[in-house]
Amino acid sequence: MTNPTLIPSVRGTIRFLLLAFPSAMLLLGGHDPASASAFGAGASDTPQVFRSNCISCHGTDLKGRMGDSTNLTKVGNRMSKAQIAAQIKQGGGGMPPFSGKLQDSQIEELAAWLSAKK
Ligand code: HEC
Repeated sequence: MTNPTLIPSVRGTIRFLLLAFPSAMLLLGGHDPASASAFGAGASDTPQVFRSNCISCHGTDLKGRMGDSTNLTKVGNRMSKAQIAAQIKQGGGGMPPFSGKLQDSQIEELAAWLSAKK
């Protein structure tokens, strides 16, 4: 059974994050207008682990902040889930490896989420 009292509190948390994140980015150097708009699109389904580790180079909108090679909006067309997981673990091409920083379950979550981006 779903707990009906849980839903409003989750909503509240999401609303808090949506409000708190752009303000935090402003404090961290939000003079870049691209980063402000990046928080509009795609913010709702972006995993927290991606926000914490990946948006500095890939952006919340996944369009990439370091040129086309960092655009992940359609990465599921190019790479399988396993290939994405390998890229996250090993890095390469200017991307740092995350094998020591993230748990396997977090890498799996990211790979599953990204491989659905088509
Ligand atoms: C310091 C910048 C940086 C960070 C942080 C970073 N990446 Fe990357 N990422 C890159 C670059 C640069 C490339 C392109 C590599 C290449 O051309 O071989 C890339 C490539 C990728 C690719 C392959 C895209 C393709 O089409 O080949 C995936 C998937 C990816 N990154 C996922 C992630 C995830 C998930 C995270 C967070 C856990 C992350 N990246 C963090 C810089 C970064």
